Amino acid sequence: MAHAQRPMEATTTRNAPTTTGRSRRSHAPHDSHDERRGTKKCDHTAITHPKIRFVYIALPRDYRAGGPKEFEAMEGAKMQESQHDRCSKPLESRTALVTGSSRGIGEATAKALDEAGARVILTGRTIADLERVAAGLGNEPVVIPTDLSEAGAGTRLAEAAISRAGGVDVLVNNAGFPIRGAPEDLVEAELDRILAVNVRSILMLVAGLGPTMIERGRGSIINVSSVASLRGPVGRVAYTATKGAIDAMTRALAADWGPKGVRVNAVNPGIIKTAMFESRQDDMTAVAQAMARRVALGRLGEPRDVAELIAFLASDAAGYITGETITIDGGMVHAMTAQEGSG
Ligand SMILES: NC(=O)c1ccc[n+]([C@@H]2O[C@H](COP(=O)([O-])OP(=O)(O)OC[C@H]3O[C@@H](n4cnc5c(N)ncnc54)[C@H](OP(=O)(O)O)[C@@H]3O)[C@@H](O)[C@H]2O)c1
Repeated sequence: MAHAQRPMEATTTRNAPTTTGRSRRSHAPHDSHDERRGTKKCDHTAITHPKIRFVYIALPRDYRAGGPKEFEAMEGAKMQESQHDRCSKPLESRTALVTGSSRGIGEATAKALDEAGARVILTGRTIADLERVAAGLGNEPVVIPTDLSEAGAGTRLAEAAISRAGGVDVLVNNAGFPIRGAPEDLVEAELDRILAVNVRSILMLVAGLGPTMIERGRGSIINVSSVASLRGPVGRVAYTATKGAIDAMTRALAADWGPKGVRVNAVNPGIIKTAMFESRQDDMTAVAQAMARRVALGRLGEPRDVAELIAFLASDAAGYITGETITIDGGMVHAMTAQEGSG
């Protein structure tokens, strides 16, 4: 496992080929590269779109040689429709940075944003995993390995994202880890580390990348919190403190930057099947079954469940949502399950 110490040291130079075979050129928000990327996709979609075939099959034989006016109007309408279809990816021409995208919820989020048309900047410590995720993405991803526990890491990552991709439209602050234990056993060095990754890095990325969103007059920041911040889980006081801080900063930042066009929301996952969950379970099947019984929907969450919500919040479809903390736990916290009764 390779852990990079400095974001820029571990990255390739601009325009150099990536390990995935794609070029990593600068990606300013409105450059011709965007258009080239969009056009390539649009052409492909137009060729394979079933509605295009309908136009040619349904029209009379003499139509293409110059048919009646209504058919010309019909073609115009169809062409407009296909024009809309081929460019309808909600995050087309946008750039998104996802922290902790080497696995788990962050990896699923990177995939969902890429599918929605965004160019994704991947970051985490494990270069091999970041390259593996990058190989599965289609919009010329950028890999910037970073250890967010280091002093100055958030600022350096923001600077690298601006240098490599021209800033971002979407920032997903997902990297995080738990520590468990009795409150009386807390150790200051561990506290410093969890605060650095789970809280400080978010604020420094916001400070470093927020101005690129404000400049564009739009942006979406999504912070990954936890249902831990809504309850009082035993043996996780430090982790819960960091997630409570995320919820609070989400509301405050939404107030600061709402007038500048930047939306800020948090998602609060329940139990999601990732390495974080599995690392602390000896008998995964039994534990998972027991936990799923506490979930109204009867199953634990998949990383993709959270990723879909994040992709929605990143998009213009969520354009009137800001300052929210949105629970995504299959009904574990708020819905009362049959086992707990109703009295
Ligand atoms: N899974 C759940 O049940 C659950 C529930 C509620 C909330 N959450 C939250 O969801 C987020 C993602 O969790 P997950 O379940 O997907 O966990 P995971 O599978 O353990 O992934 C954590 C990610 O964070 C990165 N990361 C950890 N420490 C880092 C550091 N010092 N610097 C940079 N990146 C670091 C990891 O990358 P590297 O190891 O490569 O650095 C990895 O990509 C976390 O904020 C977590 O608190 C998870």
